[in-house]
Amino acid sequence: MSQPAHIEAFFDPTTWTISYVVYDQVGGSAAILDPVLDYDPKSGRTGHDNAQKVLDFVHAHSLTVTWILETHAHADHLSAAAWLKQQVGGKVAIGAKIGTVQQVFKTLFNLEADFATDGSQFDHLFEDDETFAIGTLSARAIAVPGHTPADLAYQVGDAVFIGDTLFMPDVGSARCDFPGGNAATLYQSVRKLLNLPAQTRLFLCHDYPPENRKPQWQTTVAAQRAANIHLHDGVDEATFVAMRTQRDKTLGMPMLILPAIQVNIRAGVLPPADTNGIRYLRIPMDAL
Ligand SMILES: [Fe+2]
Repeated sequence: MSQPAHIEAFFDPTTWTISYVVYDQVGGSAAILDPVLDYDPKSGRTGHDNAQKVLDFVHAHSLTVTWILETHAHADHLSAAAWLKQQVGGKVAIGAKIGTVQQVFKTLFNLEADFATDGSQFDHLFEDDETFAIGTLSARAIAVPGHTPADLAYQVGDAVFIGDTLFMPDVGSARCDFPGGNAATLYQSVRKLLNLPAQTRLFLCHDYPPENRKPQWQTTVAAQRAANIHLHDGVDEATFVAMRTQRDKTLGMPMLILPAIQVNIRAGVLPPADTNGIRYLRIPMDAL
């Protein structure tokens, strides 16, 4: 039986993102997952209210941050990984296939020639099934491509942080229409997660609750297999792919996709300053 992980969740109501601190014990070691950098698209200002809450928790529990883990290059929020690393240290990590994502968006944004597409902006790139430690907790990266080619889930002790794969059972699954996304691939990734033991605790990256309930972020393999509206047991791959493809055609782009991707493929570092000292984001017109 794996050791239970201590988990604290931080919900951002602006982007519907859940960040986490997972740790072995008070005074012990921690990983921060998917931290959010505040960003106001109207003014172009960043802020640290979300990340500060994570930081306050880390300090209040005397935790040493050894990892800052990204499940993928998010399109809905900017990552606070770089800012948090400055405050508390830790290695910023993402999936080994991030280079594929970086190459696509280097081309789209026509980024500076020396922008590397080998993931070297990150401190560590996880391969599928790679094991690591968070203090006394054993952890494992699980490749779960589909939403993007580089998505990872992280198994820590008895919990799995599943990123953008499944949402709560009444919400369903992640979209698969971003560059490099693939619904059939997501189906296979989800089956891999749902083959974990039935009582495995699953922690989500987002919740988009229907009007009649509050945001939630914790579920189990058993609950998803029984009731996920897109991927409960018995839904075959072809049925899922047809549903997902049809549904994705109806979805607009996330509000922050253009700013978010430009920061997140740099491991949360803002783009380099222009000659006047100001940093700029680029908006590709009629290209996405
Ligand atoms: Fe995402």
